[in-house]
Amino acid sequence: MSPAESRTAESSPAGSTSGSPPGRAPAAAFVTFEGVDGAGKSTQLARLAEALREAGREVVVTREPGGSPGAEEIRRLLVEGEAHRWSPETEILLFTAARRDHVERVIQPALRRGAVVLCDRFADSTRAYQGAGDAARRALVDRLHETIIGIEPGLTLILDLDPADGLARASERAGAEDRFERKGAGFQQALRREFHRLAEANPGRCVLIDATGDPDTVAARILAVAEARGLL
Ligand code: TYD
Repeated sequence: MSPAESRTAESSPAGSTSGSPPGRAPAAAFVTFEGVDGAGKSTQLARLAEALREAGREVVVTREPGGSPGAEEIRRLLVEGEAHRWSPETEILLFTAARRDHVERVIQPALRRGAVVLCDRFADSTRAYQGAGDAARRALVDRLHETIIGIEPGLTLILDLDPADGLARASERAGAEDRFERKGAGFQQALRREFHRLAEANPGRCVLIDATGDPDTVAARILAVAEARGLL
């Protein structure tokens, strides 16, 4: 085990002003949901939250980009406006700034009190959306994660389905938050491949969930994983 891995998410102070990452992972009770746009993450996250609460766990449901007041302000800069509003590097810095605030102010305090944290997207989204297909950018994402964020989830559920089906679901939702969805079908296919690669590279943390079928069927697949991981 490396020195980084031997430190736990609970062992460093939240809101640290020292410049060090706010925590070190893996944090067993930190669960993230990932996938292409419209894969059904929000629905499934709510279903798992309900099951955990019924089992008597305190559950904190949160999302990225956003999840804390400051990070929600940064979210608006990121998800609205035209597709090429930011340079790729600026975009990576904005996602990382939002994540640092979210980890310091919401995720670490919740884990420290013993809550289960369910987060709709986290660092794997930056690895996939900002890092796919460009080795230099992916290296920047990884370096920033290591120095500024540090924490990894104990479990990442990657909801997997054909992006064409995901985009159809996503476009049924009205709203201005479509900056990434507007990047098109080819981009979504590349994202799916990147999520598959992340799952292969992190078999202990990531589980691919077949996201086809009705919500009850997908929820049952997720509950089986949560039970196997001792969350329920
Ligand atoms: P989200 O609200 O989860 O959208 P959806 O419900 O459609 O999946 O995320 C907003 C968008 O931000 C989404 O298109 C993915 C993108 N995103 C990134 O590009 N990088 C990131 O690090 C994160 C967290 C999200």
